[in-house]
Amino acid sequence: NLNHIETDRFPVWLMRQAGRHLPEYLNLRSQTDSFLDFCYSPDMAVEATLQPVLRYGMDAAILFSDILVIPDALGQRVSFIPGHGPRLEPLDGRADINHLDPSNLHAHLAPVYAAIRRIRTRLPETTTLIGFAGAPWTVATYMIEGGGSRDCQKTRTYAYESKDDFQALIDLLVDTTSSYLIRQADEGAEVVQIFDSWAGALPPMQFDDWVIKPFQKIVAAVKTVHPNLPIIGFPKGAGLGYATFATQTGVDAVSLDSMVPLVWAAENVQPHTVIQGNLDNLVLRSGGQLLEAAVQEILNVFSAQPFIFNLGHGILPETPVSHVEQLLDILRRN
Ligand code: CP3
Repeated sequence: NLNHIETDRFPVWLMRQAGRHLPEYLNLRSQTDSFLDFCYSPDMAVEATLQPVLRYGMDAAILFSDILVIPDALGQRVSFIPGHGPRLEPLDGRADINHLDPSNLHAHLAPVYAAIRRIRTRLPETTTLIGFAGAPWTVATYMIEGGGSRDCQKTRTYAYESKDDFQALIDLLVDTTSSYLIRQADEGAEVVQIFDSWAGALPPMQFDDWVIKPFQKIVAAVKTVHPNLPIIGFPKGAGLGYATFATQTGVDAVSLDSMVPLVWAAENVQPHTVIQGNLDNLVLRSGGQLLEAAVQEILNVFSAQPFIFNLGHGILPETPVSHVEQLLDILRRN
């Protein structure tokens, strides 16, 4: 698959497989108050990463961390409010951007690198370790909005009206993200995924500047050091932009959200790249006959070409463990 090796079955893992749908995660998480402290504790991060592999035998483990460790490492104040998600002290103009300081990046992220080294020693030989980072556009939206935002209006307006200043922020994120991913691979990550969760907020003229170009630069920088490291891109909500993304960024695989029509993707994306996806996370939450039918449909359309089974977005906390088991049973029958 990603390494162009023939396998008897396509691989499967689930975005957010480590996390709140797992009782063992909730138990581990209850031992630490702050989510960032949890992420920066190698003991906790290693255990959380291994949990879904031990329970389900997933083909890949994704490092337990968060995309917002980058703004945190650059000196922006980041916190996670239970029930509300992330809160950041929003950047307000060029002075705040100039204030961000990458000089402590690797020292700040040292616990993440320690976790990666330990995870690799504890994973089965055949389980792939996936490192990750947020894409510059998505991370920038959190930094400017101060949290999650559906339409990213403040960030999009800033990018239109102060394009040079916004470009400076994106350039800083391109550099720090490239260097972060390179270090993850140095320490034992065998694949990396770059999450652009808010790519769908951008119209075509901004999509090129803030999604395509930053991805091109990161992929080129990472491949200079690790030419054989497979890179998965996830431009969530890109719509027709998925075809451009697959042909222009240089990524090795593209993760599809659940809105992308299967046959369109098989014809316009899959010929150019490995695809990953794209079961609706609500279908997994509901389970039953619905899940059976939706999975069969995905397999019918995608399994003739290189393919990694996944969801279209992260697993929802309310998802019963038995539905994940049902999904894996269906896949292992095929
Ligand atoms: O299993 C895994 O996928 C690994 C861990 C992982 C987390 N966050 C842990 C987490 C990964 C890959 C992420 C990526 C991430 N973080 C993204 C990109 C993917 C996506 O979902 O679009 C984004 C946008 C974030 C930012 C973020 N972190 C948000 C919006 C939230 C709050 C929403 C939520 O799901 O709670 C977080 C917190 C977070 N990151 C949790 C987990 C397990 C929940 C916090 C907790 O357990 O207390």
